[in-house]
Amino acid sequence: MRSHYCGELNESHVDQEVSLCGWVHRRRDHGGVIFLDVRDREGLTQVVFDPDTVESFALAESVRSEYVVQVKGRVRLRPQGTGNADMVTGQIEVLGKGLVILNASNTPPIQLDEHVEVGEEVRLHYRYIDLRRPEMAERLRFRSKVTNTVRNFLDENGFLDIETPLLTKATPEGARDYLVPSRTHPNRFFALPQSPQLFKQILMAAGMDRYYQIAKCFRDEDLRADRQPEFTQIDVETSFMDEEQIMSMMEVLIHHVFKSHMDVDLGTFPRITFAEAMRRYGSDKPDLRIDLELVDIADLMSDVDFKVFSGPAKDPESRVVALRVPEGAGISRKVIDSYTDFVGIYGAKGLAWIKVNDISAGVDGLQSPIIKFMPEATVLALMAKLGAQTGDIIFFGADKEKVVNEAIGALRVKVAGDLGQVREGWAPLWVIDFPMFESTSDGGLTSLHHPFTAPACDADELQANPKQALSRAYDMVLNGTELGGGSIRINKPDMQQSVFKVLGIGEEEATEKFGFLLDALSYGCPPHGGIAFGLDRLIMLMTGASSIRDVIAFPKTQSAACPLTNAPGTVSAKQLKELNIRLREQEKSKV
Ligand code: AMO
Ligand code: AMP
Repeated sequence: MRSHYCGELNESHVDQEVSLCGWVHRRRDHGGVIFLDVRDREGLTQVVFDPDTVESFALAESVRSEYVVQVKGRVRLRPQGTGNADMVTGQIEVLGKGLVILNASNTPPIQLDEHVEVGEEVRLHYRYIDLRRPEMAERLRFRSKVTNTVRNFLDENGFLDIETPLLTKATPEGARDYLVPSRTHPNRFFALPQSPQLFKQILMAAGMDRYYQIAKCFRDEDLRADRQPEFTQIDVETSFMDEEQIMSMMEVLIHHVFKSHMDVDLGTFPRITFAEAMRRYGSDKPDLRIDLELVDIADLMSDVDFKVFSGPAKDPESRVVALRVPEGAGISRKVIDSYTDFVGIYGAKGLAWIKVNDISAGVDGLQSPIIKFMPEATVLALMAKLGAQTGDIIFFGADKEKVVNEAIGALRVKVAGDLGQVREGWAPLWVIDFPMFESTSDGGLTSLHHPFTAPACDADELQANPKQALSRAYDMVLNGTELGGGSIRINKPDMQQSVFKVLGIGEEEATEKFGFLLDALSYGCPPHGGIAFGLDRLIMLMTGASSIRDVIAFPKTQSAACPLTNAPGTVSAKQLKELNIRLREQEKSKV
């Protein structure tokens, strides 16, 4: 039906007879001629019908936005002075000779021919119309191309694309599982994988050597702009490579992707340890486009008359930090109050501050609700330590380490954004030397990555000092987003049992949940490791989208629902019976 895409026509096609198929983007009637902008996946072409072609002209008058049409006609240059330099097809138009209406359209709920803000519910409900918008189509096309580049790179480096099951057993990555009831095994459930982690390790035990998969993962967790309940990983695993080799190969992959699709050279990725990242940025995924840093000031605050600071300064599990923000002294009280509310989200009980109005005037040049609690010498020592300058504002956080890191780490990013202090460009890095475990609220320990990550120490040291143990894990971070994470894995059953023990998973539970893995490790499992990148996040960053929902064809809402299909839905009583499931009373009425 089609000779050319609408978006590909240019001056080189002048005088050619073409046949275009697409949607009516816009119709304008102009002094006896009708202009149709016809749109397809590749772009727009202006088609002109004049009254000489009586039949087509009458049809053209009847079409409306989003009608699907076939147009036959001849390409010609637009009259002098009417070209559009912003469009690929801006110098030409098609003189329409034939028009076929292939399908009509109701008035679309989303206007495509002008920029109108439409709520996300509506966009997701009518996703097929939303995806016709050029920027959305472009993102999906870009995603397809990047995925292809990744596949080619991995293929050329000897990785095999192997599929792993979606109906499986729980694969712990720290979120809740999506469960699927089994009909053939009453009262039993499959879990959808949170990642292919255990299968890819077992593929290494199976001698596959190098595996990859563009893998769907499912996690029932709190959603944010960069999280979906169902998302895609570029999942990689290799045998007989250490962390240095894996990191450098994966760095080459990401370099290659940015070079090929954006002509960007990411440079060498700096590496920083988890401890340093937390100390300087309060985050294990620091945005290095921002220069602001957290500075520990407990040494100066342990004896001041301000308990809010002196208490945490003396507590080894707490931190007192300052965040010096150049050119921040102009921030209003109202904005400071909003920042106080903001850090409150992370549990901070307040947000002390000092404005440096004139550094040469000593304490008289400072404005603050807290300096009255401190000896002058301490205040001056503080200014010297921070290198304070006229025009700065300094914010303070004093609390348990976790609260300070999260609150002031997030404030760092927020203030830099508000003051335009985030550099343009790309700031990739590796974060290494993660702890094996972190404390849970009930006093236990949980894996910082997942329980299959190898420790950097031996099993005796791990048992003796689990809180101090570091892992052989690495995360790739880009512009403050965790793009990927991986590690060298445990490949011996004793070590795996040892880690389970620290996590409070007894032998019986370990055998019940992970017996298949322990077995696989005991039949000659090679040393192995890998990584998984969030594909949606990668594309979000590369396209500058503000949410991963904008780079996924059919995403879920914040409440993990699909407005297009209305999933999740109810099921019939018959299906429930087959599955041996009885709903609780209040739910029954809905079925
Ligand atoms: P991890 O849990 O760090 O590691 O996930 C790897 C990467 O997947 C992306 N990601 C997500 N993207 C969108 N929505 C989500 N809900 C979501 N959760 C994670 C992130 C993250 O860096 N099996 C290990 C990998 C390994 O050890 O090889 C794993 O899944 O970009
Ligand atoms: P207060 O004496 O409670 O009025 O606090 C004096 C200043 O310290 C106010 O600006 C508070 O916002 C701030 N503040 C209170 N608690 C903390 C804290 N844990 N960390 C940082 N600043 C705080």
